[in-house]
Amino acid sequence: MTKHELPRGMVRATITTGTHEGYMPGFGNDFETEALPGALPQGQNSPQKCNYGLYAEQLSGTAFTAPRGQNERTWCYRIRPSVRHTGAFAAISVPYWKTAPNVLPEVISLGQYRWDPVPLPAADEDLTWITGMRTMTTAGDVNTQVGMASHIYLVTRSMQDEYFFSADSELLIVPQEGRLRFCTELGVIDIEPKEIAIIPRGLVYRVEVLEGPARGFVCENYGQKFDLPGRGPIGANCLANPRDFKTPVAAFEDREVRSRVIIKWCGRFHETWIDHSPLDVVAWHGNYCPCKYDLRTYSPVGAILFDHPDPSIFTVLTAPSGQEGTANIDFVLFRERWMVAEHSFRPPWYHKNIMSELMGNIYGIYDAKPQGFAPGGMSLHNCMLPHGPDRNAFEGASNAELKPEKLDETMSFMFETRFPQHLTEFAAKEAPMQQDYIEVWHQLEKKFDGTPGVK
Ligand SMILES: [Fe+2]
Repeated sequence: MTKHELPRGMVRATITTGTHEGYMPGFGNDFETEALPGALPQGQNSPQKCNYGLYAEQLSGTAFTAPRGQNERTWCYRIRPSVRHTGAFAAISVPYWKTAPNVLPEVISLGQYRWDPVPLPAADEDLTWITGMRTMTTAGDVNTQVGMASHIYLVTRSMQDEYFFSADSELLIVPQEGRLRFCTELGVIDIEPKEIAIIPRGLVYRVEVLEGPARGFVCENYGQKFDLPGRGPIGANCLANPRDFKTPVAAFEDREVRSRVIIKWCGRFHETWIDHSPLDVVAWHGNYCPCKYDLRTYSPVGAILFDHPDPSIFTVLTAPSGQEGTANIDFVLFRERWMVAEHSFRPPWYHKNIMSELMGNIYGIYDAKPQGFAPGGMSLHNCMLPHGPDRNAFEGASNAELKPEKLDETMSFMFETRFPQHLTEFAAKEAPMQQDYIEVWHQLEKKFDGTPGVK
């Protein structure tokens, strides 16, 4: 047997390249992929001349000197270097996409808020990924790369010869209606409700509507990238497993057509015009790349005897801040699961929190709010604002027979940040805010009468 020959009967895996159907499994892996054979240099990053006449270029998602476990970069082999994908920049207006700091003196963010779903746009409304973004809250400060924004997107039209990248942020996308395609420099990601996608800071892409109108939620992360949480005593498995994250294989387009590139930079939007598609990466290798994840593969861990754990037990992804254990953002999922706790109040307990909690409903009924929190709706329980089950949820759970019960047909999430969240003008004045939300707790009655015993 020669050095490169496989043993008899052994079959080498085929790596699918150059098709949007192909994804590679793993989270934070060092991937390699090529859409044309031999486009990816072996054994070095920057050959004197690259195959096919490609240019070698590094995309750095972290500082060169970031610790090895956090260091992320990708080497791209492309038709033109990125510097040929920009020209002079001109400011443009994108009025509904806001960036922190965005603290408005006329808007009160102190309170418990809930919104009905922002209505789906009519098919003839012309809304792209850029013009259809509606910021609900902002937190922190983009100029110091801390904090986040939450958005609702409403999209009816594909971007055509139009591309976008954000220097400000990584985007976590949570679809609620419709299907979208993200054609990125590093490959193509299709997502639908019950899936999420992560688009890294600086990556150029175009968003197409596969099935519309599309509506969903976005967490815009100004800080350190989302990572898998440490599992601690849970061990090596459950929660979000790394292999369920899917990164696209290389895909490129060689199109000489007048194209608009929109850039978000320090909260402002700019455009530049070029004569070709910037999605021209033929091959790449590295660990700074987009991915998608199917939320149905999330394996929840919870109480199997008594009491209700902190919601952090349901963390899918966490974006750290400089303070250990205190996230810039946690992305938390409340999905179908069994409730088995004995002699316990099973829904979330009453609560006041330094962290700010923004929730969205993807589908179904959320157990702490059986009414009023509709799929597509959102709620905000801001820094140190008390919240908890409404009266119906409290009375129901306090008197329920505690047999094992399946919470079925439910999927809600939380973007939780260490920073107070400030409402935008859209959230305060245009979005369908429920003016009477605080009243869901007003009916909670006083049961105490000074005499002992369970009431
Ligand atoms: Fe809470």
